[in-house]
Amino acid sequence: MNTSVVTIDGPSGAGKGTVARNIAYELDFHLLDSGAIYRILGLAAIEQGIAFDDFGGLAALANSLELSFPYDKKHTDILLDGVPLGQKLRNQVVADAASKVAVNPSVRKALMDLQRRQAIEPGLVGDGRDLGTIVFPNADLKIFLDASVEVRAERRYLELIDSGQIVERSAILRDLEIRDIRDRTREVAPLVPAHDAYVIDSSEKTVAEVVMEVRGLCKAKCLV
Ligand code: C5P
Repeated sequence: MNTSVVTIDGPSGAGKGTVARNIAYELDFHLLDSGAIYRILGLAAIEQGIAFDDFGGLAALANSLELSFPYDKKHTDILLDGVPLGQKLRNQVVADAASKVAVNPSVRKALMDLQRRQAIEPGLVGDGRDLGTIVFPNADLKIFLDASVEVRAERRYLELIDSGQIVERSAILRDLEIRDIRDRTREVAPLVPAHDAYVIDSSEKTVAEVVMEVRGLCKAKCLV
């Protein structure tokens, strides 16, 4: 029997992470924050001085990362060499680095099996850009969570301010637009809804409303 998988893809700031966490908690499924993997790789590339156009060097780095996934409801951070990187991953420099390393086909290939191996019983909820299209094409339920770029930028701004970072609204909006274009137009695994994904626009919805909608879809798929 195949493990149940729910994928939540979409652009940055659409609310994927929060919704994925809530749904994983409710279903008692494991959680895969695939963006964190790309962020860890982006951060490691910066720290080790590997250029973003050094495709071979980045692929070797991706293959050498010692990542572990703690499968614990309270601790959902991915660990690098046994250490959670937490807030170190949550800034604009690392986000930008993540989307730059993510255009590399060898990097994506290197990270594919790692992501697929996280689909273990009783099930997995994963969020990212290509989980429904490429990583888990046979997922039981696929969501594509979208929102207007202005709304997403405002959410990201408040999140970063909340975590004590000094950022400018206009810079966040610009970074998001640049990252959106890079994610949507890259040759490998671009950000697009899977043909069988349910598209939800969260621009005018609260997290609770989106979670309720996704919960309903999970019920319809007999995942609850
Ligand atoms: O979701 P998050 O903002 O943490 O992702 C950071 C970057 O990682 C994205 O902008 C995207 O370029 C990349 N990413 C990806 N595929 C995924 C998840 C994230 O290419 N499945």
